[in-house]
Amino acid sequence: MANYGIFSLKGKTALVTGGYRGIGRAVAEGLAEAGADIILWDLLDAAEVAKHIAEKFGVRAQAFLCDVTDPEAVERCMAQSAEVTGTLDILFNNAGIGPHKDALEVTPQEWQKVMDVNLNGVFFVATAFARWLTAHGKGGSVINTASMSGLIVNVPQQQASYNASKAGVIHLTKTLAVEWASKGIRVNSISPGYIQTDLIREVRSDWREAWTSMIPFGRMGRPEELCGAVIYLASDAASYTSGCNMVIDGCYTLL
Ligand SMILES: NC(=O)c1ccc[n+]([C@@H]2O[C@H](COP(=O)([O-])OP(=O)(O)OC[C@H]3O[C@@H](n4cnc5c(N)ncnc54)[C@H](O)[C@@H]3O)[C@@H](O)[C@H]2O)c1
Repeated sequence: MANYGIFSLKGKTALVTGGYRGIGRAVAEGLAEAGADIILWDLLDAAEVAKHIAEKFGVRAQAFLCDVTDPEAVERCMAQSAEVTGTLDILFNNAGIGPHKDALEVTPQEWQKVMDVNLNGVFFVATAFARWLTAHGKGGSVINTASMSGLIVNVPQQQASYNASKAGVIHLTKTLAVEWASKGIRVNSISPGYIQTDLIREVRSDWREAWTSMIPFGRMGRPEELCGAVIYLASDAASYTSGCNMVIDGCYTLL
């Protein structure tokens, strides 16, 4: 295992939601490489991912089926997850969905679904995690996955529900950072730009070309390029950092 010095997560346990694929999976691997034991939550069975992480990085790793929109399931899975290593220290609160649709055609159910996963789910998991920490007299670190879409309006696609949900995640992060400062629980968010995951690969190619042409770096990001930020925010190196939203977008939002 590499020597991560002040960024080392050895002895800590990290819970990653949406850990089956994409950003969640890549960041879970990054956290494991920095020494953390890993708990994966997803709607899909991430047992094989957990096995791969345990073998590759020599850490403990286990997967749970958990729908982050179900607060009772979240509480139950939190208690079960804490039993795996006896502790919880880091939450990468990342599960999310991103549908594209004209706001005038979005049904109330479709709007509600995006809010349920992207905003309510983040709230349910963060509060269950903080309840577990405070009940056990511990501090910890929460890193929420927001998006540059919480700061700007993407074009040409229409995604009002997604943008609004991610703006909510950014301000929820700041609010919880203040509310939990005295409890030793730090709360930060990352706001990725376009990152090449299945979520993006499923999108029509002319949009993907349009997006790339608007990124000063001239390319989309890779999921692994988010690991450093999350490891930093999770680690003791960030002991005075809370309420921060780290934008990682190849300069997209600067134009
Ligand atoms: N890919 C990008 O360009 C990009 C950019 C900015 C932000 N994000 C955000 O990053 C996060 C991860 O995105 P991704 O690109 O890896 O997507 P992805 O679709 O590849 O992975 C998302 C994972 O979350 C899981 N999931 C969905 N709903 C869930 C639920 N209710 N409960 C538990 N798990 C659930 C899915 O099964 C999937 O494994 C999302 O919050 C997304 O909004 C992505």
